[in-house]
Amino acid sequence: MAGKTIVVVGGASGLGLATTGLLAKAGAKLAVIDVNPSSLERCIAALSSPAMTVHGVCGNIVPKAEAVELVREAAHKLGRIDGLVNCAGVYPRRPILDITDEDWDFDWNINVRGTYNTMAAAVELMRAQPLVGKVRGRIVNVSSVDAFKAHPQNAHYAATKAAVVSLTRSFALEFAPDQILVNAIAPAGIATEKAKGSGFLPELASHTPLGRNAELDDITSWIGFMLSDGNNYMTGETVIVSGGYIFA
Ligand SMILES: NC(=O)c1ccc[n+]([C@@H]2O[C@H](COP(=O)([O-])OP(=O)(O)OC[C@H]3O[C@@H](n4cnc5c(N)ncnc54)[C@H](O)[C@@H]3O)[C@@H](O)[C@H]2O)c1
Repeated sequence: MAGKTIVVVGGASGLGLATTGLLAKAGAKLAVIDVNPSSLERCIAALSSPAMTVHGVCGNIVPKAEAVELVREAAHKLGRIDGLVNCAGVYPRRPILDITDEDWDFDWNINVRGTYNTMAAAVELMRAQPLVGKVRGRIVNVSSVDAFKAHPQNAHYAATKAAVVSLTRSFALEFAPDQILVNAIAPAGIATEKAKGSGFLPELASHTPLGRNAELDDITSWIGFMLSDGNNYMTGETVIVSGGYIFA
């Protein structure tokens, strides 16, 4: 990853923070976009060192104009965008018949519109860049096993994560001629602080053949691979990493 320039959206906590740390330690130059200023400050402070480059860009990816500005600012700090990771996401639960208009808007806006907005902004910049090796840019979206497995406490979230799978395919097809690779990862439960606080991890672990939830590095290693020169030919795929919770 040495020298690669990567934007991590939602990179100030949880899976995004772990991804930022992995990539920075591997020599990539990072820009972290996040809506939470205090988490972002902590992230930059934690990863600041002469050996690592991690810029912070604070803002909200839901309004398209703001998302475009955030991605442009990140690209300006980095010089180009070799990779984009979309980790920002929300997952509140609600019984299927109690989902409100506000629940739909909250999940849809961040998980789907936000993901679309940052991808749209990034591919505009990536397609104008010269090739590095065989590829102009790589995008990794974070979906969920819930895109593929019904969970009635989570129907609205599952629908947004299925939409992320679909957006991944649409962008992959449209921008394949530009040599931009667009893939997604679909994890089962990951032991992030947010997920631990949400209380659903023990139930997921009990249904997982490997007998445990994912640790952060069980997932970040896959994201890292999809952003690396190891992947020059996979696009449009959603890779399920679930400890056997589901098989494709
Ligand atoms: N933790 C799990 O069990 C699990 C499992 C499968 C998939 N996922 C997915 O992984 C991703 C990360 O989950 P996490 O547990 O690390 O959550 P998290 O809350 O720890 O991290 C999400 C980050 O996104 C940022 N963010 C939220 N809305 C934003 C916005 N509008 N603009 C910019 N930044 C915004 C938050 O401030 C936060 O830093 C989510 O997409 C989630 O759906 C998580």
